[in-house]
Amino acid sequence: MFPTALLTRKRRRPEVAFVGGREEVKFRDVRLFLVERRMGKSRRNFLSNLARSKGFCVDDALRYTQSFSKVLKAQDGFRETHDKHVLHISWFTESMSAGRPVPVEIRHYIQNPAVDQRSCTHPSAKPESAVSPYACQRRTTLDNHNKIFTDALEVLAENLELSGNQGPSLAFRKAASVLKSLPAALRRQEETQHLPCLGEHSRAIIEEISECGSSSRVEEILNDERYRTMKLFSSVFGVGPKTAENWFCRGLRTFEQVLSEPSVRLNRMQTAGFLFYEDISKPVSRTEASALKIIVEEAVICVNPSATVSITGGFRRGKEFGHDVDFIIKTPEAGQEDVILPAVIKRFKSQNILLYSDLQESTFDLRKLPTHCFDAMDHFGKCFLIMKLKHEQEMDARAGKDWKAVRVDLVAPPLERFTYALLGWTGSTLFLRDLRRFARLERGKLLDNHALYDKATNTFLPANTEEDIFAHLGLEYIEPWQRNA
Ligand code: UTP
Ligand code: MN
Repeated sequence: MFPTALLTRKRRRPEVAFVGGREEVKFRDVRLFLVERRMGKSRRNFLSNLARSKGFCVDDALRYTQSFSKVLKAQDGFRETHDKHVLHISWFTESMSAGRPVPVEIRHYIQNPAVDQRSCTHPSAKPESAVSPYACQRRTTLDNHNKIFTDALEVLAENLELSGNQGPSLAFRKAASVLKSLPAALRRQEETQHLPCLGEHSRAIIEEISECGSSSRVEEILNDERYRTMKLFSSVFGVGPKTAENWFCRGLRTFEQVLSEPSVRLNRMQTAGFLFYEDISKPVSRTEASALKIIVEEAVICVNPSATVSITGGFRRGKEFGHDVDFIIKTPEAGQEDVILPAVIKRFKSQNILLYSDLQESTFDLRKLPTHCFDAMDHFGKCFLIMKLKHEQEMDARAGKDWKAVRVDLVAPPLERFTYALLGWTGSTLFLRDLRRFARLERGKLLDNHALYDKATNTFLPANTEEDIFAHLGLEYIEPWQRNA
């Protein structure tokens, strides 16, 4: 009734290039396992031979004759991972007719077996499709129905990040991200069974929280002196995990101790970070972001009347609060992107609304594309600022100041790079990380903030809109407010 092609994508070449057949294996990085409820020997042989004749490697190792739930639950069964997919037979038939493994798309994923059963008895019931292991194939709004789990997983991730364990931290971040994409709260432990990216540790934490309401490991971390101090120190603008750790190891625990320690030398960024800590450690509201947009726009237009300003970052994804406000500037004339930021900064200075500025000139070089390694930073001209934002009402009058210090980032890419930069700066970081990974591993394309490059044809793929980029990657378009992975 529900034939399935189980597909695994191998990183390394399989040792056995010939499995059961005499035909040559053309697609060595793909292995097929055919599973069908009550699949007869003759049908299995027919499908296997067909696939082998087309150069596919078909593995006979799994002779499942029972239900899919058994397949999925089997000890060494096929939990879906980034390189293992449980797919509907449609992927198989399309691949046979194409004569090559076609890219896996959302519609190819087999429905959850429990849902399959239901849809048999209730033909009107709409089956849900499986959750993709790639964040760029999930729609993640700000409506998080699993906050008690995701908060806990993010504490574990942050704790690992603060101690320099980026790899293990990412596993918890991915697990939290999958839960954020779910349309409802998890009710039973079994509901996590078919979710991708949930490792043993994450599952254990979820189980403990569902049973006890909290996780002992998370509580332990939250009370841990090292974690608390590292978190406090790294909350200062300009203080990364390395500096925070250095201060902690020297026995420092509070800002007072750091600031009165003669051997501590603060750089310019950290000095500003401490000076405006009270303000910039507070979240920036959407209203404040909109007020800043008017100020930035006014300065940009004054410098270049044909330039435009858009909000990116978390606010573009619909967040109500952010740690900063990110703006991207679009300049229609070539070369204007290099002069606009210094001119805008100059204007802010003359208006006496600039508290700190760090201008990073463009190091973008078209000839150096495509880049195979992704840096956290792109090469466009950008500036990291702390700006004075006047209060609407004189709220803070008692403090003797009528403004709030706010962190603002501006980026000015060349016009033909704008769409890629906009996509990159909109984030979320995890969404973009998976989009780049998906492009590389599933589509043989390289994506970064500068370009999209097709390795098969050695060409750069043009994009006027973000939709164009998703289309080049064969992905359903995900709106900015659905990218909160
Ligand atoms: P932020 O750190 O501001 O994140 O970077 P955010 O999502 O807006 O979160 P809050 O609300 O401020 O806390 C915005 C995006 O810009 C990208 C980051 O990866 C992130 O996705 N970025 C930043 C770049 O692509 N290039 C850079 O050089 C810097
Ligand atoms: Mn931001």
